[in-house]
Amino acid sequence: KIIVLDFGSQYNQLIARRVREMGVYSELKSRHTSAAEIAADPEIKGIIFSGGPNSVYDENAFKVDPEIFKIGKPILGICYGMQLMAHDLGGKVESCEHAEYGKADIEIKAGNALLKGMENTQQVWMSHGDQVTAVPECFEVNASTQTCPIVMMSNPEKRFYAIQFHPEVRHTVNGTAMLKNFVFGVCEAKNNWSMKEFVDVEIAKIKETVGDDEVLCALSGGVDSAVVAALLHKAIGDKLTCMFVDHGLLRLNEAESVVDTFKGRFGMNLYKIDARNEFMSLLKGVSDPEQKRKIIGNEFIRVFERESAKFTQIKWLAQGTLYTDVIESGTDTAQTIKSHHNVGGLPENMQFKLIEPLNTLFKDEVRELGTLLGLPDEIVHRQPFPGPGLAIRVLGEVTEEKLDLVRRSDAILREEIALAGLDKEIWQYFTALPDMKSVGVMGDQRTYEYTVGIRAVTSIDGMTADWARIPYDVLDKISRRIINEVKGINRVVLDCTSKPPATIEWE
Ligand code: XMP
Repeated sequence: KIIVLDFGSQYNQLIARRVREMGVYSELKSRHTSAAEIAADPEIKGIIFSGGPNSVYDENAFKVDPEIFKIGKPILGICYGMQLMAHDLGGKVESCEHAEYGKADIEIKAGNALLKGMENTQQVWMSHGDQVTAVPECFEVNASTQTCPIVMMSNPEKRFYAIQFHPEVRHTVNGTAMLKNFVFGVCEAKNNWSMKEFVDVEIAKIKETVGDDEVLCALSGGVDSAVVAALLHKAIGDKLTCMFVDHGLLRLNEAESVVDTFKGRFGMNLYKIDARNEFMSLLKGVSDPEQKRKIIGNEFIRVFERESAKFTQIKWLAQGTLYTDVIESGTDTAQTIKSHHNVGGLPENMQFKLIEPLNTLFKDEVRELGTLLGLPDEIVHRQPFPGPGLAIRVLGEVTEEKLDLVRRSDAILREEIALAGLDKEIWQYFTALPDMKSVGVMGDQRTYEYTVGIRAVTSIDGMTADWARIPYDVLDKISRRIINEVKGINRVVLDCTSKPPATIEWE
């Protein structure tokens, strides 16, 4: 494996990811990891120093154990990592006259193992305010840019390499190739890592961490908590208890599917709490969307606290925190979780210790893992779904009647989108119920019933979105089916607004 020591760059998570994509296990480790610990692990074939926001001369600059340069393992310093290497080994680092951000061309002066097979000019991505101005003893300068004379340096004998630019971002055209040259050429790592390996390693880790203790996992119906549960179950079997709070705001058959999968298929200890009435009675008469969210979030915490307190013998709480949820400087803050993660925010002061086995994975890796662990597609490829559930897709006061209209129309929409083969293409699609009725005519009869809105968007991350161009004939079928099959709806409309200015949800 290759370890990435974390000096706080916003890109550090990408480095480990790129190495894993090559089939070599890689993880981000704290910069406080001692040289002795690294030396003692024969699996560690190489070390990468990540970039970081500091200057090596800052009073609180992130440091590395200086012994690390003496243990004989290859090191690649990236950006701040290069400056740190230069500084610690006797070179010189200064702040540059022109800070460089963005694309730059480097000219290769002297080839090295990292540059094997590459042309003399390379487009790279720079982001730095300091730079190396003198290399340490026994180092050579390999490349420069117009403003940065030492953009790459190395000491091949010691297998130390350093680059000022970021090979992990796509804008560095041959970045992956350079990383590959380091990982395979210099470190001689083997590409024998896959998700299967991850499962074995992680199961061993989980067993070691929790020992004979029992673990609680809160299921939300979403992919992250489902994968955590499946992984833990594989590791500790009956010592895992899953808790599922049914707040009555999930989509059609979703609560049943959670129970079927985890209790039925996996035979897990599943503790289902039917809190539907509690949530509904708190939502009675409430039509302000923010207030709905608050009520649901608070009630969720209350139910969770009340119910989890019953498991006095359980010491651990498993959470589906992902790499992307782990805040900025990675490993040193790996325990800090986003307050609104997964099940809509769990209480902060709990009697549990936290275990977060997915916190080195990205969303698509989690999906791959879920499939490998035998989870069904409907869970693994579930669309994003808001924590407060259908309560925010029913505008105005939430009633059972309105929830039922959304559920049934939404089920039809999902069925038809899948039938048309559009389910992978459209990022998120659902129906929402505006709080309005209008006049219609059905079989010579006047009707006065609800309107339902179709919302379907394409997006990468939900931050921006475009409305999905669903073919007219598919829309036609959806509309007809909703009107014919869902009594209480007499009009179907399509939302053709992008985000911004609209949001994805109607609430
Ligand atoms: P908006 O409506 O703000 O939604 O454009 C962006 C994305 O976030 C989802 N969403 C939520 N997800 N908890 C979540 O986990 C929430 O409270 C929540 N609210 C909105 C929404 O479905 C969309 O994908």
